[in-house]
Amino acid sequence: MKQNHPGSFFIIMADGELKITAVIPAGGSGRRMQASEAKQYLLLDGIPLLVHTLRSFQESPVIGNIILVVPPADVARIQSDLVDAFAMTKIRRVVAGGKARQDSVRNGLAVLPADCEIVLIHDAARPFVSPALIEKAVNGAVREGAVAAGVRARDTVKQCDREGRVTATLDREQIWMAQTPQAFHRAIIVAAHQKAQIDNFYGTDDALLVERMGIPVRMIDSIPDNMKITTAEDLAWAEYRFSIRK
Ligand code: CTP
Ligand code: MG
Repeated sequence: MKQNHPGSFFIIMADGELKITAVIPAGGSGRRMQASEAKQYLLLDGIPLLVHTLRSFQESPVIGNIILVVPPADVARIQSDLVDAFAMTKIRRVVAGGKARQDSVRNGLAVLPADCEIVLIHDAARPFVSPALIEKAVNGAVREGAVAAGVRARDTVKQCDREGRVTATLDREQIWMAQTPQAFHRAIIVAAHQKAQIDNFYGTDDALLVERMGIPVRMIDSIPDNMKITTAEDLAWAEYRFSIRK
Protein backbone atom coordinates (compact mmCIF):
# COMPACT_ATOMS: atom_id res chain seq x y z
CA MET A 1 0.00 0.00 0.00
CA LYS A 2 1.34 3.37 -0.93
CA GLN A 3 0.31 6.94 -0.34
CA ASN A 4 -0.43 8.79 -3.53
CA HIS A 5 -0.80 12.32 -2.23
CA PRO A 6 -1.85 13.45 1.23
CA GLY A 7 -5.29 12.19 2.07
CA SER A 8 -5.53 9.99 -0.98
CA PHE A 9 -4.49 6.36 -1.03
CA PHE A 10 -4.57 3.58 -3.50
CA ILE A 11 -3.76 -0.06 -3.29
CA ILE A 12 -0.90 -1.49 -5.26
CA MET A 13 -1.84 -4.50 -7.31
CA ALA A 14 0.61 -7.33 -7.81
CA ASP A 15 0.17 -8.93 -11.25
CA GLY A 16 -3.16 -7.17 -11.56
CA GLU A 17 -4.55 -8.99 -8.54
CA LEU A 18 -6.09 -7.01 -5.75
CA LYS A 19 -5.10 -8.20 -2.32
CA ILE A 20 -8.47 -7.61 -0.77
CA THR A 21 -10.73 -10.45 0.33
CA ALA A 22 -14.37 -10.29 1.35
CA VAL A 23 -15.58 -12.79 3.94
CA ILE A 24 -19.36 -13.24 3.75
CA PRO A 25 -20.91 -15.03 6.74
CA ALA A 26 -24.03 -16.84 5.46
CA GLY A 27 -23.89 -19.69 7.94
CA GLY A 28 -26.94 -18.89 10.04
CA SER A 29 -30.31 -20.63 10.12
CA GLY A 30 -32.48 -17.50 10.15
CA ARG A 31 -34.46 -18.55 13.19
CA ARG A 32 -36.29 -15.22 13.55
CA MET A 33 -37.48 -15.34 9.93
CA GLN A 34 -39.48 -18.48 10.78
CA ALA A 35 -39.30 -19.73 7.18
CA SER A 36 -38.85 -23.32 5.98
CA GLU A 37 -35.29 -22.61 4.82
CA ALA A 38 -32.51 -20.30 6.01
CA LYS A 39 -33.25 -16.66 5.15
CA GLN A 40 -30.16 -16.21 2.95
CA TYR A 41 -31.73 -18.59 0.40
CA LEU A 42 -35.19 -16.97 0.35
CA LEU A 43 -36.09 -15.27 -2.91
CA LEU A 44 -35.91 -11.51 -3.16
CA ASP A 45 -36.88 -10.01 -6.51
CA GLY A 46 -36.81 -13.57 -7.89
CA ILE A 47 -33.30 -14.59 -6.84
CA PRO A 48 -31.84 -15.77 -3.52
CA LEU A 49 -31.18 -12.93 -1.09
CA LEU A 50 -27.57 -14.09 -0.82
CA VAL A 51 -27.07 -13.57 -4.55
CA HIS A 52 -28.00 -9.88 -4.25
CA THR A 53 -25.36 -9.48 -1.55
CA LEU A 54 -22.71 -11.38 -3.49
CA ARG A 55 -23.35 -9.44 -6.70
CA SER A 56 -22.16 -6.17 -5.16
CA PHE A 57 -18.88 -7.87 -4.26
CA GLN A 58 -18.62 -9.60 -7.63
CA GLU A 59 -19.08 -6.18 -9.30
CA SER A 60 -16.77 -4.23 -6.99
CA PRO A 61 -13.43 -3.48 -8.65
CA VAL A 62 -11.67 -3.34 -5.27
CA ILE A 63 -12.58 -6.91 -4.25
CA GLY A 64 -10.13 -9.56 -5.43
CA ASN A 65 -11.89 -12.62 -4.08
CA ILE A 66 -14.68 -13.78 -1.84
CA ILE A 67 -14.83 -16.42 0.88
CA LEU A 68 -18.40 -17.56 1.42
CA VAL A 69 -19.29 -19.21 4.73
CA VAL A 70 -22.45 -21.37 4.73
CA PRO A 71 -24.07 -23.94 7.03
CA PRO A 72 -21.95 -27.13 7.02
CA ALA A 73 -24.65 -29.20 5.31
CA ASP A 74 -24.86 -26.73 2.39
CA VAL A 75 -21.22 -26.44 1.31
CA ALA A 76 -21.41 -28.91 -1.60
CA ARG A 77 -24.72 -27.81 -3.08
CA ILE A 78 -23.91 -24.11 -2.80
CA GLN A 79 -20.90 -24.64 -5.01
CA SER A 80 -23.11 -25.86 -7.87
CA ASP A 81 -26.47 -24.20 -7.17
CA LEU A 82 -25.11 -20.75 -6.46
CA VAL A 83 -21.47 -20.19 -7.33
CA ASP A 84 -21.69 -21.88 -10.74
CA ALA A 85 -25.33 -21.09 -11.53
CA PHE A 86 -24.90 -17.35 -10.90
CA ALA A 87 -21.32 -17.14 -12.26
CA MET A 88 -19.84 -15.84 -9.04
CA THR A 89 -16.30 -16.07 -10.36
CA LYS A 90 -14.69 -14.25 -7.44
CA ILE A 91 -15.77 -16.85 -4.89
CA ARG A 92 -12.53 -18.59 -4.06
CA ARG A 93 -13.74 -20.84 -1.26
CA VAL A 94 -17.05 -22.01 0.18
CA VAL A 95 -16.44 -23.08 3.78
CA ALA A 96 -18.53 -24.48 6.61
CA GLY A 97 -19.75 -22.08 9.26
CA GLY A 98 -19.83 -22.60 13.00
CA LYS A 99 -22.26 -22.34 15.87
CA ALA A 100 -22.24 -18.53 16.23
CA ARG A 101 -21.62 -15.87 13.59
CA GLN A 102 -18.22 -15.23 15.16
CA ASP A 103 -17.27 -18.89 14.65
CA SER A 104 -18.36 -18.65 11.01
CA VAL A 105 -16.25 -15.53 10.41
CA ARG A 106 -13.27 -17.21 12.08
CA ASN A 107 -13.65 -20.21 9.76
CA GLY A 108 -13.58 -17.80 6.82
CA LEU A 109 -10.49 -15.99 8.12
CA ALA A 110 -8.74 -19.36 8.45
CA VAL A 111 -8.66 -19.79 4.67
CA LEU A 112 -7.61 -16.26 3.61
CA PRO A 113 -5.35 -16.28 0.57
CA ALA A 114 -1.67 -15.94 1.54
CA ASP A 115 -1.27 -12.54 -0.12
CA CYS A 116 -4.44 -10.94 1.26
CA GLU A 117 -3.79 -7.63 3.04
CA ILE A 118 -7.23 -6.17 3.69
CA VAL A 119 -10.25 -8.16 4.85
CA LEU A 120 -13.80 -6.91 4.50
CA ILE A 121 -16.54 -8.73 6.43
CA HIS A 122 -20.18 -8.35 5.40
CA ASP A 123 -23.37 -10.08 6.53
CA ALA A 124 -25.04 -12.11 3.80
CA ALA A 125 -28.32 -10.83 5.25
CA ARG A 126 -27.66 -7.22 4.10
CA PRO A 127 -28.49 -7.41 0.39
CA PHE A 128 -28.50 -3.65 -0.29
CA VAL A 129 -24.75 -3.16 0.18
CA SER A 130 -23.37 -1.22 -2.80
CA PRO A 131 -20.02 -1.31 -4.61
CA ALA A 132 -19.57 2.34 -3.49
CA LEU A 133 -19.95 1.44 0.19
CA ILE A 134 -17.58 -1.50 -0.24
CA GLU A 135 -14.98 0.81 -1.75
CA LYS A 136 -15.45 3.35 1.05
CA ALA A 137 -14.92 0.63 3.68
CA VAL A 138 -11.81 -0.69 1.94
CA ASN A 139 -10.29 2.79 1.61
CA GLY A 140 -11.10 3.43 5.25
CA ALA A 141 -9.35 0.23 6.33
CA VAL A 142 -6.29 1.06 4.27
CA ARG A 143 -6.05 4.46 5.98
CA GLU A 144 -7.26 3.67 9.49
CA GLY A 145 -6.66 -0.05 10.02
CA ALA A 146 -10.20 -0.82 11.18
CA VAL A 147 -13.56 0.65 10.10
CA ALA A 148 -17.22 -0.20 10.49
CA ALA A 149 -20.18 1.12 8.51
CA GLY A 150 -22.95 2.52 10.64
CA VAL A 151 -25.70 5.07 10.99
CA ARG A 152 -25.92 7.86 13.52
CA ALA A 153 -28.67 7.44 16.11
CA ARG A 154 -31.84 9.37 15.31
CA ASP A 155 -33.62 8.54 18.54
CA THR A 156 -32.37 9.19 22.04
CA VAL A 157 -30.79 6.05 23.48
CA LYS A 158 -31.63 5.02 27.05
CA GLN A 159 -29.61 2.48 28.96
CA CYS A 160 -31.94 0.48 31.25
CA ASP A 161 -31.91 -2.31 33.79
CA ARG A 162 -33.73 -5.59 33.13
CA GLU A 163 -37.02 -4.13 34.38
CA GLY A 164 -36.78 -1.26 31.88
CA ARG A 165 -35.83 1.39 34.45
CA VAL A 166 -33.55 3.99 32.88
CA THR A 167 -30.06 3.96 34.32
CA ALA A 168 -28.52 6.45 31.88
CA THR A 169 -29.35 8.54 28.83
CA LEU A 170 -26.55 8.37 26.30
CA ASP A 171 -25.37 11.45 24.44
CA ARG A 172 -27.03 11.01 21.06
CA GLU A 173 -24.26 12.93 19.30
CA GLN A 174 -21.92 10.08 20.21
CA ILE A 175 -24.18 7.15 19.30
CA TRP A 176 -23.87 5.14 16.10
CA MET A 177 -25.64 1.93 15.15
CA ALA A 178 -23.06 -0.47 13.74
CA GLN A 179 -23.68 -2.47 10.58
CA THR A 180 -21.50 -4.23 8.07
CA PRO A 181 -19.36 -3.92 5.95
CA GLN A 182 -16.51 -3.77 8.45
CA ALA A 183 -12.99 -3.76 7.04
CA PHE A 184 -9.59 -4.32 8.60
CA HIS A 185 -5.94 -4.84 7.98
CA ARG A 186 -5.59 -8.60 7.87
CA ALA A 187 -3.19 -8.82 10.83
CA ILE A 188 -5.56 -6.81 13.04
CA ILE A 189 -8.70 -8.86 12.44
CA VAL A 190 -6.92 -12.22 12.53
CA ALA A 191 -5.27 -11.34 15.86
CA ALA A 192 -8.58 -10.04 17.27
CA HIS A 193 -10.40 -13.27 16.41
CA GLN A 194 -7.55 -15.36 17.82
CA LYS A 195 -7.65 -13.46 21.09
CA ALA A 196 -11.43 -13.73 21.34
CA GLN A 197 -11.18 -17.49 20.84
CA ILE A 198 -8.48 -17.85 23.50
CA ASP A 199 -10.56 -15.74 25.93
CA ASN A 200 -13.79 -17.52 24.93
CA PHE A 201 -15.24 -14.04 24.31
CA TYR A 202 -18.23 -13.67 22.03
CA GLY A 203 -19.11 -10.25 20.64
CA THR A 204 -21.98 -9.06 18.47
CA ASP A 205 -19.73 -7.74 15.73
CA ASP A 206 -16.14 -8.03 14.51
CA ALA A 207 -15.24 -4.44 15.38
CA LEU A 208 -15.81 -5.19 19.08
CA LEU A 209 -13.14 -7.89 18.96
CA VAL A 210 -10.70 -5.28 17.63
CA GLU A 211 -11.79 -2.66 20.20
CA ARG A 212 -11.08 -5.01 23.09
CA MET A 213 -7.49 -5.28 21.86
CA GLY A 214 -7.19 -1.52 22.40
CA ILE A 215 -7.05 -0.84 18.67
CA PRO A 216 -9.17 2.13 17.50
CA VAL A 217 -12.05 1.52 15.10
CA ARG A 218 -13.40 4.35 12.96
CA MET A 219 -17.10 4.50 11.98
CA ILE A 220 -17.94 5.38 8.39
CA ASP A 221 -21.37 6.54 7.21
CA SER A 222 -23.41 3.73 5.75
CA ILE A 223 -25.97 4.09 2.95
CA PRO A 224 -29.75 4.17 3.43
CA ASP A 225 -31.38 0.72 3.22
CA ASN A 226 -28.33 -1.26 4.36
CA MET A 227 -30.44 -2.93 7.02
CA LYS A 228 -30.17 -6.56 8.00
CA ILE A 229 -33.04 -8.74 6.86
CA THR A 230 -34.10 -10.47 10.07
CA THR A 231 -37.89 -10.98 10.07
CA ALA A 232 -40.61 -11.65 7.49
CA GLU A 233 -41.53 -7.95 7.69
CA ASP A 234 -37.96 -7.02 6.76
CA LEU A 235 -38.14 -9.28 3.73
CA ALA A 236 -41.44 -7.71 2.66
CA TRP A 237 -39.86 -4.29 3.07
CA ALA A 238 -36.86 -5.36 0.98
CA GLU A 239 -39.19 -6.64 -1.74
CA TYR A 240 -40.90 -3.24 -1.76
CA ARG A 241 -37.58 -1.40 -1.99
CA PHE A 242 -36.64 -3.47 -5.02
CA SER A 243 -40.02 -2.85 -6.64
CA ILE A 244 -39.69 0.95 -6.43
CA ARG A 245 -36.11 0.94 -7.72
CA LYS A 246 -37.26 -0.29 -11.10
N1 CTP B 1 -24.31 -16.20 10.49
C1 CTP B 1 -23.30 -17.13 10.27
N2 CTP B 1 -23.10 -18.18 11.13
C2 CTP B 1 -23.88 -18.31 12.22
C3 CTP B 1 -24.89 -17.37 12.50
C4 CTP B 1 -25.09 -16.31 11.61
O1 CTP B 1 -22.57 -16.99 9.28
N3 CTP B 1 -23.67 -19.36 13.02
C5 CTP B 1 -24.55 -15.13 9.51
C6 CTP B 1 -25.97 -15.10 8.99
O2 CTP B 1 -26.14 -16.05 7.94
C7 CTP B 1 -26.14 -13.66 8.58
C8 CTP B 1 -25.19 -12.90 9.49
O3 CTP B 1 -24.35 -13.87 10.11
O4 CTP B 1 -25.76 -13.42 7.24
C9 CTP B 1 -25.95 -12.11 10.55
O5 CTP B 1 -26.64 -12.99 11.43
P1 CTP B 1 -28.21 -12.99 11.72
O6 CTP B 1 -28.86 -11.87 11.01
O7 CTP B 1 -28.40 -13.14 13.17
O8 CTP B 1 -28.68 -14.32 10.94
P2 CTP B 1 -29.17 -15.69 11.56
O9 CTP B 1 -28.32 -16.06 12.72
O10 CTP B 1 -29.26 -16.66 10.43
O11 CTP B 1 -30.65 -15.32 12.01
P3 CTP B 1 -31.31 -15.60 13.47
O12 CTP B 1 -30.41 -14.93 14.48
O13 CTP B 1 -32.67 -15.00 13.38
O14 CTP B 1 -31.34 -17.10 13.64
MG1 MG C 1 -28.25 -14.79 14.49
